[in-house]
Amino acid sequence: MKILVTGGLGFIGSHTVVELQNVGFDVVIIDDLSNSSVEVIDGITTITNKKPLFEKLDLKIKSEVKDFFNRHNDIAGVIHFAASKAVGESVNDPLKYYENNINALIYVLQELTKLNKKNFIFSSSCTVYGQADELPITENAHVKPAESPYGNTKQIGEEIIRDTCRANGDVNAIALRYFNPIGAHPTAEIGELPVGVPQNLVPYITQTAIGIREKLSVFGGDYATRDGTCIRDYIHVVDLAKAHVVALQRLIGSKNDSNFEFFNLGTGTGSSVLEAIQSFEKVSGKKLKYQIEDRREGDVISAYAETSKANNILGWKTELTLDDAMASAWKWEQKIRNK
Ligand code: UFG
Repeated sequence: MKILVTGGLGFIGSHTVVELQNVGFDVVIIDDLSNSSVEVIDGITTITNKKPLFEKLDLKIKSEVKDFFNRHNDIAGVIHFAASKAVGESVNDPLKYYENNINALIYVLQELTKLNKKNFIFSSSCTVYGQADELPITENAHVKPAESPYGNTKQIGEEIIRDTCRANGDVNAIALRYFNPIGAHPTAEIGELPVGVPQNLVPYITQTAIGIREKLSVFGGDYATRDGTCIRDYIHVVDLAKAHVVALQRLIGSKNDSNFEFFNLGTGTGSSVLEAIQSFEKVSGKKLKYQIEDRREGDVISAYAETSKANNILGWKTELTLDDAMASAWKWEQKIRNK
């Protein structure tokens, strides 16, 4: 079965392509290479012994999207990762985010509705919950007004899909609300490749440990949490990738309860920034240079997933730990710096 993975050379996309190929799907990747590299294909090929098809294509160009689907009308499912994802950048350049994340989604959905098999997996985020009133966060928690244009594109994206499913009974979609994806493939053949100064915690940690950054700034040490730092649900990217395969199989096997479903993807365990640092230090054997500094604007204090819906209905749960994720991220950082 042929599966289209948009943004398939990105961090989560590439790990998902590996898991799809591991269970026998044929994958065609679309990526515009704006935040990824063609070399990722080599990593995927080394891990799986199978080279995925790849087309460099800009999903914001409607005619190109149409042309692609005309040539690939045998696609059995679409996993849509392609999107811009830097929260801060989205505040400064909101129109880039609305154009990249919304136009592309609409063009892909327009073509999806013409296929024989209309199965769609959407890359959503726990950002839709903002600072939830209750922890752990269930899928019934209110969707709060978005803190950033990036977050808003995930909310609007889900609404566009919900409306599309309502109007087209034969479209089947699942939105996956990720908590904090981290780590790399255990082979260190693929991993996260942030451009410039990392905005996210784990690549900042590994770049500091390897000497590219002087020290990690811990944003805020006076939050009302067990050690004063923010709490997140860090999920290993390999576990996350496997959830996409399970969700796709749910749609292909018509096991879904309704034609638009959404699931939280997290471990269910919250870890503080200091606990994440401790985990890194333990698995790497290195002491990390860090300093507690001012809070970062827009950070929620605490977010971790209630996982029973994903566990019981989707039939998926995480198998890897924070330590596993840190060890894989560290192995990857060392590999890309040839050390
Ligand atoms: N942090 C630091 N120092 C850093 C980077 C991060 O202390 O240099 C802290 C943050 O303050 C936060 C935690 O580490 O407490 C995690 O921060 P990340 O930037 O790694 O992740 P976020 O939880 O902020 O971001 C994630 C996703 C976004 C999504 C957001 C919504 O990466 O895509 O959740 O809450 F929008």
